[in-house]
Amino acid sequence: MTNSYELLLDSKVHVLVLTGAGVSAESGVPTFRASPDGLWENHRIEDVASPEGFAQDPALVWRFYSERRAKAASVVPNPGHYALAELEKKLGDRFMLATQNVDGLHTRAGSQRVIEIHGNLFKTRCTVCDREPFDDHTVYAANEVPGCGRCAKEGRNALLRPHIVWFGEALDGTHLHRISRFMSNASELVFIAAGTSGAVYPAANFVHDARRYGAKTVLINQDPADNGRAFHHWIQGKSGEVLPGLFTFAD
Ligand code: OAD
Repeated sequence: MTNSYELLLDSKVHVLVLTGAGVSAESGVPTFRASPDGLWENHRIEDVASPEGFAQDPALVWRFYSERRAKAASVVPNPGHYALAELEKKLGDRFMLATQNVDGLHTRAGSQRVIEIHGNLFKTRCTVCDREPFDDHTVYAANEVPGCGRCAKEGRNALLRPHIVWFGEALDGTHLHRISRFMSNASELVFIAAGTSGAVYPAANFVHDARRYGAKTVLINQDPADNGRAFHHWIQGKSGEVLPGLFTFAD
């Protein structure tokens, strides 16, 4: 573990960053675990973040995600988000950001090469038809469960659901493919995980995948992560304080 660390990036290096809830904590978005306002301290995962929970009580699930929408819409990106957007500007296609966060703050900070592996709070999709997930900033009223307008036109009743990957659901295979192709194409790879407890798979395995490709691996986290021993370096601290000063560039 270390508190000050500089990462020297040369003109060949590829950087893959994985972010989690801790990166948005300094913006005021609650994390999931191990803090008094942690979302999973106050809600049962299976009630609000599983297909079974949605089947049982869709209004409760929509209330949970509507509250999170309202919260995410009321906050702004912090220096950690901006530092990653700046790094992308320098590296271009040699940069990729995989985020478990669904709050959209990376994009709002200017990041473009972002893969939202757990979905996006501000997108909604139909539980029945194959229309594309669409932008939706609606904060639904308590007990309101939106229905699909397109299905209604065809005489079907179908509920809309948040475009979030719930427990028990698979991640988008094209996302995972893009991430592993990025790693395999890199002649020199740095993998950075920031603000994530390393408790949820497959994201928690990215560090192992990266190491198989010979990556240098760095964890930036306030507390020990479940997969922390897999990293070469752990910088203990806040991502909004560590990330802006982390990178130096070789000429
Ligand atoms: P967690 O809540 O599990 O972990 C957040 C981590 O961030 C903790 O290890 C904290 O120590 C650390 N942390 C908090 N504030 C920080 C800061 N300012 N700087 C750096 N680190 C900080 O969140 P995730 O690991 O993102 O999935 O959770 C992974 C997934 O579990 C989420 O995407 C979500 C959840 O269930 C779904 O909803 C599908």
